[in-house]
Parts: sequence; C-alpha cells; structure tokens
Amino acid sequence: MEYLRIRGGRELQGSVTLPGAKNSLLPILAAGILCNEPVTLKNVPDLSDLHASLQILRAVGWQAEFVQGTIQLLPAEKMKSIIPEKAAGAMRSSVFYLAPLLHRTGKVELPSPGGCRLGQRPIDIHLEGLVKMGATAAMQGEVLTLCAPNGLQGTEFRLRYPSVGATETLMMAAALAQGKSRLENVAKEPEVMDLARFLNRCGAQIRGAGTECIEIEGVPALKGATHTLIPDRIVAATLFAAVAAAKGEVHIKNVCPVHLAGVLELYKRMGMQLYQPVPGELIAGMQNRPKALGQLKTGPYPAFCTDAAPLTAAALLTATGETVIEDTVFENRFECASEFANLGARAMKQGRSIHIWGKKSYSGGSARASDLRAGAALVCAALGAKGESRIGGLEYIRRGYCDLEKTMQYLGADIVKISD
Ligand code: UD1
Repeated sequence: MEYLRIRGGRELQGSVTLPGAKNSLLPILAAGILCNEPVTLKNVPDLSDLHASLQILRAVGWQAEFVQGTIQLLPAEKMKSIIPEKAAGAMRSSVFYLAPLLHRTGKVELPSPGGCRLGQRPIDIHLEGLVKMGATAAMQGEVLTLCAPNGLQGTEFRLRYPSVGATETLMMAAALAQGKSRLENVAKEPEVMDLARFLNRCGAQIRGAGTECIEIEGVPALKGATHTLIPDRIVAATLFAAVAAAKGEVHIKNVCPVHLAGVLELYKRMGMQLYQPVPGELIAGMQNRPKALGQLKTGPYPAFCTDAAPLTAAALLTATGETVIEDTVFENRFECASEFANLGARAMKQGRSIHIWGKKSYSGGSARASDLRAGAALVCAALGAKGESRIGGLEYIRRGYCDLEKTMQYLGADIVKISD
C-alpha cells in the first residue's frame, strides 16, 4: 500500500515548468495512427495513462519509444484492429483509437473503456457521428465493434453537447474521410485546437478548431510530423490551488494564461496575486485566507473547467465564508467532499455540487483519492492542513501527474511517498 504522508503548513516557494498537457497527448497519440510516416511528440509527461496508450499502439502493431519527454512512433507493417482489454479498461481515452483504427483497418474492436468514475460517461455522440459517416456499430457482450470496410464519408453533424472527446474522435474521422465534413456545436478546448494543429501539420485540412464549428476537407493520406504539446493547464490550476491552500509564491513557466482564463479570474477574486513577469510565465502568490466565492458553476471552455473544480474546492477550505460549486459537466465530480471532511475541513457533496464552509484551519487526517483530480485536490488540501495527513489512491494521481510529490517537495512542502 502506497500513500503520501504530508505535513501541512509549509509555504511553497520556487519555480515549476509545466509539462505537456495530458489531454492533448492522449488524442494526439491515437491520431498518430492516421499517419503513414513516423511521428515525434515533444514535451511529453511520464503518466500512467501514457503507458496504457503506448500499450495500445504496440498491440495494434506500431513501434513506440518514450525517451526523456519525447515519443517516437513508427508505423506498423500490418495493423491489427483489436484494442487489448487491459489497456482499454485502464483508461477512457482508449475510445480515441476508434476512428484511427477504423480508417486504417476498416474495423475496430474495443472492450468497455475504463477511466475515472465521474458519472456514466457514455460515448453515444462519438458513435452517432461515426455512424453518420458510414460506420456500423454493434455490441457483443462488453465488446464494441465498429466496421467501415469502404472507408468513412464526410458529413454534416451537430453534436448534441460539445463533448471534448467526441469532437476529437470526429475530427480524426473526418480528416481522412472522403469529401467535406462540417461539425457543429463542437468543443472549443485548447486541447481540441492542439489536435487540429497536429493533424494539419500532418497534411489534414481542418479549419475552425477553437470555434463552435469545424470544417474539414478530407484528404487521402497523412504524412508524419514533429509536434510539441501545449502546456498542461490543469497542472497550472493544481499549482494555484496548492499555493492558495499552503500560501507562498510560485513562479510557473511554460504556461499559457489564455487557456486558464476561467480559472485565473476565480483565483484573482479569491485574493491571489497573479502576474505575468514575461510572456509564457506566471507568478502566483497568496499570503492570506482566500475570500469565499459564493455560487460557482463549471462549464465547457472557456468557462471554469470541471477538472479544476475539486482543486478550487481544496483552495477554498480555509476561505472566509461559504462557496458552492456546481459541476454541470460530470454528475459525480465531488466524491472528494467526504474526504475533505476526513481531513477536518467542512465540505459536503450535494447532488452535482460541493458546498464548502471555509474555516480558519483544519487538522489533516487520512483520505483516499476516488479519481485523478480528486486525488490532486486532496494533496492540495493536505498541504494547507495544520497537521499530518495520509493520502491514498496514488494510482489515480499518477494518471495525470508525473511525480506530483517531487514537484511539491521541490517547492518546499513536507511530503513523502510511503510504501507499506
Ligand atoms: C475530456 C477530458 C477530461 C475533462 C472533460 C471535460 C481528455 C482525455 N479528458 O474528457 O479531463 O474533464 O473532457 O472537459 O481530454 N458525453 C456524452 N456522450 C458522449 C460523450 C460525452 O453524454 O458521447 C457527456 C459526458 O458523460 C460528460 C460530458 O458529455 O457528462 C462531457 O464529456 P466530454 O467532454 O466528452 O469529456 P471527455 O472527452 O471524456
């Protein structure tokens, strides 16, 4: 059993360079399969979700090497169409392989995808779009099989909700489809734009990523490319939460403040000092108790993002008043509420919301991560506690952070990983 032992109450000081974004990395790795030539990705973080993805790439016949933040993908001589059950179950992003494998092999078999239990997380929008492009879909037990022996055709499709994953699936599908596609009510997240940038670098014809409508002119083939991932905005949001909880001043490098718009505004309202010494860098400082924020709601980009919600909740545990955050994206985002209470803080889950009653201090205690961002939020909360905490569920945290404990240690936190 592994856990983090955190002795709270030490201010954070120092600088951190953001790694590449996990949510860009996972769809772009899958999109690599669409290419006929080698692909190189840079600024790649060492995450457990990365290794699950590399397992899928190798299982379908590609060579994939990860050395010091760079991935080299070499095309398969003959590609297979079955996604291994273990890798599919390890992460939800296995769904990103549907469209690329359909294009390359005419068929794909996906055992039920895993991932964080944030709610039901259906993939109906991905499937509806792929079927509109000419694929057939069938479930046999737990295995989803899609077929498109004659390739996919361009289409006009309006997503019933701007799902990030479905937008990315359909962009990959349309990139090599025959003819034009027009996707409406799509997600505008920076990671969607990063995938479009990667595909265009490989020769795709995608216009409008980052707006509500994406137009794609299908091309017959894609070449390879070298691509550097955008910085991880959720890791930046994690650092804001850690500074708000533990106090201190952290200099964040390789950051894109525009991507953080909805989050930056909230931290400014809390009383955090945030400024940009030079473009691409931010200094985040906090000395006093945060101000409570009243009623907040998450939403699709550019609104306050769902991944930052539990982190922001952790930042508000010592606020001077009450805050209620409603997550409009996932029904089960705030499993961390009862774990915050185990640390001595006052928070409660109410339906899709978390209600936080800020208090001057809380003791720390034992808590367990139920999902990736809840895990990071518990670490931030423990950094801000008066006493000692033990945070379990590290397997979730590793899905999205490479060495969160080392980053926090480097910033001066008293945090160690203990293996019993
Ligand atoms: C991505 C991010 C995740 C982030 C989320 C929302 C990756 C790897 N993960 O997840 O970190 O929290 O965006 O910003 O990029 N939905 C459907 N049908 C579908 C697809 C989605 O009903 O076919 C629903 C989901 O259940 C959820 C909502 O739409 O309630 C948003 O999901 P979506 O935007 O697809 O999130 P992911 O792509 O899974």
